[in-house]
Amino acid sequence: MAVALAPHAPVIAAPASTGAAGGAAVAVDRVSRTFAGPHGDVVAVDDVSLDVAEGEFVVIVGPSGCGKTTLLRMIAGLETPITGRILVSAPDNRPVRNAMVFQGRSVFPWLSVEANVAYGLKLDGVSRAEQREKTSNLLSLVGLSRFAKAWPHQLSEGMRQRVAIARALAVDPQMLLMDEPFGALDEQTRFILQEELLRIWEATGNTVVFVTHSIDEALTLADRVVVMSAQPGRIKAEIPIAFDRPRDQATVRSDPRFAEKFATIWSLLKEEVQEARRSAGEMVR
Ligand SMILES: Nc1ncnc2c1ncn2[C@@H]1O[C@H](COP(=O)(O)OP(=O)(O)OP(=O)(O)O)[C@@H](O)[C@H]1O
Ligand SMILES: [Mg+2]
Repeated sequence: MAVALAPHAPVIAAPASTGAAGGAAVAVDRVSRTFAGPHGDVVAVDDVSLDVAEGEFVVIVGPSGCGKTTLLRMIAGLETPITGRILVSAPDNRPVRNAMVFQGRSVFPWLSVEANVAYGLKLDGVSRAEQREKTSNLLSLVGLSRFAKAWPHQLSEGMRQRVAIARALAVDPQMLLMDEPFGALDEQTRFILQEELLRIWEATGNTVVFVTHSIDEALTLADRVVVMSAQPGRIKAEIPIAFDRPRDQATVRSDPRFAEKFATIWSLLKEEVQEARRSAGEMVR
């Protein structure tokens, strides 16, 4: 059964079930989204179609302002397409458990670190003992065990982002939507969390749609990289990344296909970044 996510679906999704039931499949069909801007309407996403298979890891790259966040928010049901439709379906025919890690701040400042991580579990009606155990495992995973009782304002930006990641993983989402989740992290922490995310994804079989500006990150994680054009955001290319799995930083970078894929994606992206700068009236070489 295909389930269209309702607009304003919960950010950390909620049905009472726990445990993996296979990844969700996503079908984005000719979707467009326009916003009213100060100088007239802005077409953020224009006629985008994208299928994500159950358990696939898709990474979206594109110049700033090309509509990546808007597309992700529409898949999450937090934004409504103006035209087209989006279907998200789960193999067990039940409502899809999804979680989104937002770009920038996405922790609740009024909850402690551990209460942030346990938030979705509490909504799911998970027992306190299980909440404690899962929260403690996830805080250890993201390297924040010592900060369980801290408040978000007492953490660095990168630490807060790790809390958001732990909170999203806590509900064992069938579809994990991540908007530049590692952008605020230092490189070593980013590498470690990329590898941990891969490990979790490989173990659960869940579906991930991940936005990044980093070609390296895209190549490390993705089954397929989707390159979006400068605004209005369209899909310019889809590039399969068939490096062996399981992957880690070293094996990915030593794959002879890495340099070739990097060059392909950068040349596609460079044209779009230059186009975006040109339309913004910047000087472009
Ligand atoms: N709520 C909104 N109201 C008005 N305009 C919006 C809104 N959300 C997005 N936009 C516009 O839509 C376009 C796409 O924005 P979006 O945030 O999706 O881009 P992005 O690709 O995620 O950019 P970045 O890489 O900088 O995060 C931009 O021109 C933006 O100004
Ligand atoms: Mg964005």
